Amino acid sequence: MKQFLSAQDVQDIPSLIQSALEYKANPWKDEMLGKHKKLGCLFMNPSMRTRLSTQVAAQQLGMETVIFNVGHEGWALEFEDGATMNGTNVEHVKDAAPILGHYFDILAVRTFPGLKDRSADYSEHIIHQFIHYAGIPVISLESATLHPLQSLADLITVHEAIAQHTLASKPKIVLTWAPHVKPLPQCVANSFAQWVNAWGAADFVITHPKGYELEPSFTNGATISHDQDAALKDADFIYVKNWSAYEDYGTMPGHGGEWMLNNKKIEQSNNGKVMHCLPVRRNVELSDEILDSSNSLVTKQAGNRVWAAQAVIASMLKASNK
Ligand code: CP
Repeated sequence: MKQFLSAQDVQDIPSLIQSALEYKANPWKDEMLGKHKKLGCLFMNPSMRTRLSTQVAAQQLGMETVIFNVGHEGWALEFEDGATMNGTNVEHVKDAAPILGHYFDILAVRTFPGLKDRSADYSEHIIHQFIHYAGIPVISLESATLHPLQSLADLITVHEAIAQHTLASKPKIVLTWAPHVKPLPQCVANSFAQWVNAWGAADFVITHPKGYELEPSFTNGATISHDQDAALKDADFIYVKNWSAYEDYGTMPGHGGEWMLNNKKIEQSNNGKVMHCLPVRRNVELSDEILDSSNSLVTKQAGNRVWAAQAVIASMLKASNK
């Protein structure tokens, strides 16, 4: 694997899940794989889980990690080709990224969408500029439209729960929109849909209010419903996430009705296991009663971020050693 931006960069998702589970069983089995190699992690936006799990994963492979919170500590970067840089941006990515390519063996980047200009966000201009100019393998730590390490951890969690709770090998997975206080990116929802569809081992339903349709290339293959109660019937897994509108880009159309999950809402599910990528706004996106119940997988899901990152970094290190 030379880059990890989406499910399309993975040849065999079940094998990658298996690799992650092998690292979970034996975290140090490849502790020499990354010896004398460095992972540079650039954060243009805040993070807890992604930052720490990636760092732990790299350390378990013997790699050194350097974290740079460029959004807070670095020079403001310019990404527009041909820009006259007489404003607040101090350094162009075409000058900065090649230097990172000299310092590191693998570069990992987190950037969020602006949620103002849909075509700019969906072009993934920022992460592609790093790929173009850094000249080393790049891992997305979440980009403008996708969050692949999160989605891999999500599928690891589903895979484990199927075995643990002896669920059907083709479970019903429901991705449900949830309320929020401000417009959020579509990344986690897009990415989860893309990975579940690529994985192909689920009966996949997405439910959201009208106006919250996601970009169809990610959701094609899923059943879309505006009736949350009907969608939740017989669900084995319920993935809860807010996102802002894709059509009326970055807005929060009125949703009407009650969309926050509570125990009453999941009564018709198949004792549905509830997932969320975190951070979560309690009693806005998800009720305390769900988050604090045995139905919640959110802590396991976040724990699996380490094994997802370790499988991906290891795959890149092995590719670069060939
Ligand atoms: N789920 C997730 O990406 O968490 P962080 O924003 O804390 O990294």
